[in-house]
Amino acid sequence: MKGLTNPRYEQFINEQVDELKKSGFLSQIRVLEGPNSAVSVVDGKKVLNLCSNNYLGLANHPELVQAAKEASERYGAGIAVGRGVMTMSIILELERRLAEFKGAEAALTYPTGYVANMGGIWPLMTEKDTILSDELNHASIIDGCRLARETDRIVYRHNDMSDLEKKLKQSVEARAKGKTMIITDAVFSMDGDICKLPEMVELAERYDAFIFLDEAHASGVLGKTGRGTLEHFNAYGRVEVQMGTLSKAIGTVGGYIAGSEGLCYYLHRRSRPFYFSTGFPHPAVCGATLKALEIIKKEPERVQRLWDNTRYFKRELESLGFNTGISQTPITPIIVGEPERAQQLSRLLYEEEGIFVQAFSYPVVPKGTDRIRTIVNGHHSREQLDHTLAALERIGKCLHIL
Ligand SMILES: Cc1ncc(COP(=O)(O)O)c(C=O)c1O
Repeated sequence: MKGLTNPRYEQFINEQVDELKKSGFLSQIRVLEGPNSAVSVVDGKKVLNLCSNNYLGLANHPELVQAAKEASERYGAGIAVGRGVMTMSIILELERRLAEFKGAEAALTYPTGYVANMGGIWPLMTEKDTILSDELNHASIIDGCRLARETDRIVYRHNDMSDLEKKLKQSVEARAKGKTMIITDAVFSMDGDICKLPEMVELAERYDAFIFLDEAHASGVLGKTGRGTLEHFNAYGRVEVQMGTLSKAIGTVGGYIAGSEGLCYYLHRRSRPFYFSTGFPHPAVCGATLKALEIIKKEPERVQRLWDNTRYFKRELESLGFNTGISQTPITPIIVGEPERAQQLSRLLYEEEGIFVQAFSYPVVPKGTDRIRTIVNGHHSREQLDHTLAALERIGKCLHIL
């Protein structure tokens, strides 16, 4: 339906669309036609799915589906009231379980991880304070920090603890009496490397700073039982704020912030996306998420399988000669350095081998580091991984990547 619209507005939209089409950015958005599992139907074709955050195979777990149905039957389809007025007991139960999972006193849920960063960072900061942020932090951290408009924001070189120390010293000297926050992804979403938390907590303690840790790709993945970075490095009690998402390893959707009782009491009343929004989306999501946390606790072998697959796939990719960058986790990029090559590699894997892996280029990753990003999940079979490795070797040679 075409109506009359403001010509300046229309010109702006048309220019933006033309530019995006020319750049090729997200030119093809594929459609998943069914559940997210190891083998999924994408654009009508059955493919091996190697770019999903469904690390533990929970997104399509029948017990989660059943728990979602039961929660809907008991609590209804929606909440229809904001957290400033009332909440639902199943949400409080979920927040208690999330706090327990993250080894924290309390937790608050948000509609997504992105919103948790938009709502959870700026209330902690004032005009006297300083934020030190890793240069490769996720967009939601960057945007969340931007909302702390009166706070000094300083970027340190990626995972470079000597640069962080230098900037911490400068910020301590420059500030009169404000606080300093160090904020970082726990696992970096494009490179798959892990933040250097042990050194970071030492620096934070030495320079009187506190840490805000984004556990999006760490919860359910790092640590023997999947509780995340604090379990992995045995750093319980040394990180003030843990933020996370439910939409990756946990298999559902939503975000959360975990920390002290005081932190959650304060954010409940001061975090605008929490207070002024109806908030956490659906009782069904709460039911499914509670079930996911129960399964992760009961079946630590899921985390073990994820890591067995990760180590195998990474070792084989490296022995074939692919550049996997600095990855230490299931997120394993294959860096090819040019946008067309990354696109071609992704396209040929899909068209000729029935394997779906997404390509990424600037502005999502720095120029010259164009890549496909593979993510192995615990439920991929060895045969599926071997099939992928053989396909990558063949196409890699054709495209002169190997
Ligand atoms: C490091 C990081 N933080 C936050 C988010 C946002 O989480 P959500 O998808 O729940 O909004 C993501 C998701 O892509 C992420 O990778």
